[in-house]
Amino acid sequence: MTNILVPATKPVVLVVDDVSANRELLEGYLYDLGYEVRHAADGQEALEQINTNEPDLVLADIDMPRMDGLTLCARVKADPLGRLIPIVLITASHDRAIRLKGLAAGADDFLTKPFDAKELLIRTQVLLRDRALNKRLDAAESVILALARAVEARDGYTIQHAERVAQSAREIGRAYGLAGEDLDALYKGGMLHDVGKITVPEAVLLKRGPLDEGELAAMQSHSAEGERICAPLRSTAHYLPIMRHHHERIDGRGYPDRLAGSDIPLGARVVAIADAWDAMVSDRPYRPGISREEAIRRLREGRGAQWDAMFVDLFLQLLDQGLAERMRPSI
Ligand SMILES: [Fe+2]
Ligand SMILES: [Fe+2]
Repeated sequence: MTNILVPATKPVVLVVDDVSANRELLEGYLYDLGYEVRHAADGQEALEQINTNEPDLVLADIDMPRMDGLTLCARVKADPLGRLIPIVLITASHDRAIRLKGLAAGADDFLTKPFDAKELLIRTQVLLRDRALNKRLDAAESVILALARAVEARDGYTIQHAERVAQSAREIGRAYGLAGEDLDALYKGGMLHDVGKITVPEAVLLKRGPLDEGELAAMQSHSAEGERICAPLRSTAHYLPIMRHHHERIDGRGYPDRLAGSDIPLGARVVAIADAWDAMVSDRPYRPGISREEAIRRLREGRGAQWDAMFVDLFLQLLDQGLAERMRPSI
């Protein structure tokens, strides 16, 4: 089917090989298959190209000077942005040891020389289809982040609340020893924790007095609603539990599931503290934020009852080290 609204673009394939004759042969095949082909003479040059202009697929030889294919693969896959670019390693034989090293480096597939045009077509098509799907998922995530900003604007909440919660949650995670994708999940979960508020009526969201029973139920539905909104997006799977459980309490008196202790997902226990802190110290349209000392007192008071004691301690340490000052809104 031809595209009507979106002009068709050729997938970009980067061929990395130090032997120009090999490169040209492969480039010829790929060109005939309808791809836009770029090339690099070694891993170092490929890495520079990938950083400036992301290809949709990389075909890399293993033995190359300066930086070999395995190192290139490991470097690209270690970068959260490069992680989703499929990499095919080209091997001269069916050497099992090399393939295992390739898999360890994160290679998506292998091609064996001499090339078979049909095999090349099928393998590249499969990987490019995955790549297109991943790109769409990334786009979906951006839409959800935009939704989080819309929620903030509607809520009348201090601008950048979600951003500060996300940053604090990530800092707590780092102090706890988490890294990589776990920190990313904490950050994104922090950004999106209240996205379900989009479903709460404005009259409830902006009401200044105490909420009646029905209004309270509507307000509290936001955590489960956030999970429901984001559940169809595969890329949000890691932080759905943060959305659903960030109002649970360690003593089991929270919502929506009345989970207690370590039954509450770790990310939700972390975000709960970052969220409560920011809510306490931020000015709202109808009340000023409380002092740092009073907020610390309340955190200590709720340690082990409302919040996870160990994460409260970590957070208090981070405050001592200037966390709150670093989180001040930039506007
Ligand atoms: Fe919330
Ligand atoms: Fe919040």
